[in-house]
Amino acid sequence: MVQDTVPKSSDKAAKDVLGVEDFDAVEFYVGNAYQAAYYYQHALGFKPVAYSGLKTGNRDSASYVMQQGRAKIILTSSYHPSSDISAHQMMHGDGAKAIGLRVRDAQVAYDKALERGARGVIEPTTMKDEYGEVRISAIETYGDTVHKFIERDGYDGLYLPGYIPYTAPVETEEEGVVRIDHIVGNVNWHQMDPTVQFYHEVFGFGTLLEFSPDDINTQYSALSSKVVNNYNDRVKMPINEPAHGLKMSQIEEYINYYHAAGVQHIALSTNDIISTVKNMRARGVEFINVPKTYYDELSDRVGEIKEDIQELAKYGILVDRDEHGYLLQLFTKPIQDRPTFFFEVISRKGCRGFGKGNFKALFEPIEREQAERGNL
Ligand code: FE2
Repeated sequence: MVQDTVPKSSDKAAKDVLGVEDFDAVEFYVGNAYQAAYYYQHALGFKPVAYSGLKTGNRDSASYVMQQGRAKIILTSSYHPSSDISAHQMMHGDGAKAIGLRVRDAQVAYDKALERGARGVIEPTTMKDEYGEVRISAIETYGDTVHKFIERDGYDGLYLPGYIPYTAPVETEEEGVVRIDHIVGNVNWHQMDPTVQFYHEVFGFGTLLEFSPDDINTQYSALSSKVVNNYNDRVKMPINEPAHGLKMSQIEEYINYYHAAGVQHIALSTNDIISTVKNMRARGVEFINVPKTYYDELSDRVGEIKEDIQELAKYGILVDRDEHGYLLQLFTKPIQDRPTFFFEVISRKGCRGFGKGNFKALFEPIEREQAERGNL
């Protein structure tokens, strides 16, 4: 049984400094938002619920709000070559630009963040329509990624003022995703500690867990990771940096193709991971292949679980345990041509960890893929 390291010291405990309550939507800049929306709907089970673009008078960019449970992803493309969106897309490929954080007060969050050393991107701005009022602001974080503070207690609309309801030409079923569990950032060599410190100092976030390269390495590809969290633990963000192995770290491969630090994966939580993974597979989502031998020693490693191991093996679902309980998880392959962003599907049965015990089982298939791309 693998135990994650939970630091107990009080300086690592999260404090409520900026009024961050939860994740809000994550906005991706993509090459073709219309077609990306098709993949998010038909493969991943999101529903396109709202739209902004030429038809709403937005002459700059098109955006689709994709929702599943409470998880929201915004897909945005530019109409013009010289925009920030186009520049971002050209440099990084399709990738997460803005990690939305729901705050109690977007003005307070912004002012305090700047006081505590953050760089501002969007000054507090109020947006209104017939559904009420939203206040947003934004600051920089790692790479070209930003955190958008969103204050929406006074708003009943689908996402933000300016968006109109969108109905897809074909209805699809959701696949059981209920919310975003955590969002992982990859940063460059030796940037993990400064990034974690940024979250401590600016946000008052704590360090929930730490993983050293000894925990997370294989023969070749190593990384270090620390997990920062907000005061109520709804916002959990592991920060990874490459570590030295015999060959290229998977984090370095990401950086080489994203050309900066950026969001590596978003974990989507589901209450029924077997049906979620089964449906996603049936709809064409590709997952990391888990070796069959993984399941031979699973019971010894994680003890008793409710799920049928044969069934987990059938869909390649991974299991890990900490002192609080167990979790089930699985990772998709990158969902664009660059070996950069991917999704995780996760179901927590009390466990507060991130699957440390799976890292080895997992890295071998990840490395196999990396070798096939000629990047190991
Ligand atoms: Fe994860």
